Amino acid sequence: MDMCLSSEQRPKHLVEGPSSPDGWLEAEKEKTLQKDGASGPSGDFNKIEPSLHSLQEFVPTNYASYTQENYLFAGKEIVMQESIESYGAVVWPGAMALCQYLEKHTEELNLQDAKILEIGAGPGLVSTVASILGAQVTATDMPDVLGNLQYNLLRNTLNCTTHLPEVRELVWGEGLEQNFPKSTFYYDYILASDVVYHHYFLDKLLTTMEYLCQPGTVLLWANKFRFSADYEFLEKFKQVFDTTFLAEFPESTVKIFKGTRKWD
Ligand SMILES: C[S@@+](CC[C@H](N)C(=O)[O-])C[C@H]1O[C@@H](n2cnc3c(N)ncnc32)[C@H](O)[C@@H]1O
Repeated sequence: MDMCLSSEQRPKHLVEGPSSPDGWLEAEKEKTLQKDGASGPSGDFNKIEPSLHSLQEFVPTNYASYTQENYLFAGKEIVMQESIESYGAVVWPGAMALCQYLEKHTEELNLQDAKILEIGAGPGLVSTVASILGAQVTATDMPDVLGNLQYNLLRNTLNCTTHLPEVRELVWGEGLEQNFPKSTFYYDYILASDVVYHHYFLDKLLTTMEYLCQPGTVLLWANKFRFSADYEFLEKFKQVFDTTFLAEFPESTVKIFKGTRKWD
C-alpha cells in the first residue's frame, strides 16, 4: 500500500511513538481487516485503497511545535493537529461557524454525495466535517500547509466517510484553467472560511471564487469581520455574486454569506 505521508516526509516528532501517522494508518488497516474478517483482495481495506492512491503525496509541513485540538461536529470527535507557526495551521473562528452551519443544515444543503471544494482549507476542519456529512470533498490551499492538511483529513475521515477527501494545491488566481478545467471540475459547493484578512491577494481570491462557480454552484463564505477592508471585500463580492446573508455569530463576529454567481 502507498502511504500518503511517508515517515521521511513527516515531522520527526510525529514519526516517533505509538501515535505516529504510520502506526495509526497501519492500525486502522488492521482494524478494518479484523472487523470484516477480510484478508484477501475483496476485503474492505482494499476497497478504500484506490481512494488513498488518488491522494497525492505532499512535502511535510515542518513546524517546530504542534498542538492537538479536539472538536465535536456531526456527532464525531475530530482531532486537529495545529501549529501557531502558520495562519494555515490554525483553526479560525470562521471554520467553527461554518461547521456549525453545515451540521445544522445538512439535509437542506443536500450534502450527501455533494461535490465540494474548499479554498484556503488550512488545517482542514471544514473539509473534515463536510466529508463526515457525506460530501465528496477536495480541500485546497498553498503548498506549505498541504502536508498538515492531508494528515488531519486522513486521520479524521479514514474508515468513517463515504468518500475519502482529496487534497490539492490551489494558489488563488494561479493555474486555474490548467489545474481545474471547467469541463472536468464542477462543484455543487465552494466553501471558504476566514480567507479574507490582511493579505495582498484579495483580488486573486475573488477571481478564484468567481472562476470556480459555474451555473448551479453555491459558494458558502464564512468570515470574521474586523476591519473596513473586510467590508470592502464584501462590497466587491456582492458585485460578482447574488449574495444572501445566512447567519451571524455575535460572540465571534463571524458572518456567513451564500453567493451564486451573477450571469449577465
Ligand atoms: C486565516 S487562514 C483560514 C484557514 C481555515 N480556512 C480556517 O478557517 O480555519 C487562511 C488560509 O488561506 C490560505 N491562503 C492565504 N493566501 C492564499 C493564497 N494566495 N492562495 C491560496 N491559499 C491562501 C492560507 O494558507 C490559510 O490556510
